[in-house]
Amino acid sequence: MSTWHKIIFGNCRDMYEIPDESIHLVVTSPPYYNAPFDYPDLYKSYEEFLELIRAFAKELYRVLAPGRIAAFVTDDMLVKGEKYPVVSDITRIMIETGFRYRDRIVWEKPEGYIRISRRSGVVLQHPYPMYFYPDNIQESIIIFQKGKFDYAYIKTLDPKILEASKIDLKKYSSEKWYLAIWRITNVLPLENRLEKGIAAFPEEIPRRLIKLFTFVEETVLDPFLGSGTTTKVAKELERNSVGYEIDLELKDVILKKINYNQATLTNSTGKVEIIERPDAKRLRTHLQEKVKNQRSVVDYT
Ligand SMILES: C[S@@+](CC[C@H](N)C(=O)[O-])C[C@H]1O[C@@H](n2cnc3c(N)ncnc32)[C@H](O)[C@@H]1O
Repeated sequence: MSTWHKIIFGNCRDMYEIPDESIHLVVTSPPYYNAPFDYPDLYKSYEEFLELIRAFAKELYRVLAPGRIAAFVTDDMLVKGEKYPVVSDITRIMIETGFRYRDRIVWEKPEGYIRISRRSGVVLQHPYPMYFYPDNIQESIIIFQKGKFDYAYIKTLDPKILEASKIDLKKYSSEKWYLAIWRITNVLPLENRLEKGIAAFPEEIPRRLIKLFTFVEETVLDPFLGSGTTTKVAKELERNSVGYEIDLELKDVILKKINYNQATLTNSTGKVEIIERPDAKRLRTHLQEKVKNQRSVVDYT
């Protein structure tokens, strides 16, 4: 089955390339505000970050088909000693935009790898009240819906599409997809990894969401594409995709991840279109320089 994939370098606050109500699922992970290890000082203020979320939430409402799902992988962020309530603020903005709040899944990472810091160690140094800061091994997958899904739609589908979209119940049970806690190993930001400095999510997250919320040949959108994980998984699962990424410096990473062939403008299963808009930027080198300079001064409390 051949699918198509659009990768647009530009700002997702305006997704004018996408017709109204043409997207069947949004899977994304917005920038982690000004996270010290990936996005130091990307936004002038938390309000500026929320303003971007407001603008793109409106666009999501426009492009998403009725009854369909938008899922965000995100977490509250500790920046320069202040904790920012990103999960609840995005939830509030999505509800104010008109979405229904459907669920929150906790993505639990293995305990052995904590990326930011072992804040709990403060109690070991000072075994007295008021020194407690827990180590964070979770993120939230917050799930919103545009109105209600019309289940009569399923009866109109070609039986072959329906069969190809069937959820593997063995996996569903053995991997415990049915719980509100998903235990999935995170992508380690090692020096030689394609995803270094991008805060990529593991493929297993878009894989589960795409299988649970779309039918084969439908279209998945990731407005914050990063390294291109959503596009890669969408094509593997025979769904079309649209991805926005503001940073042109990620072009090579994305093309490598989706196994893009310059000569044929395709990857192994589909046609790929790449658009570079004038509002795309070059960010990565600048951010990584800042990360290097910040390492010694990050304050975890
Ligand atoms: C957390 S990363 C996404 C990682 C992605 N899920 C992956 O697996 O690689 C967020 C991405 O959003 C991009 N971004 C930030 N602001 C944007 C905007 N206004 N429009 C489009 N992309 C943006 C950043 O450059 C970054 O690559």
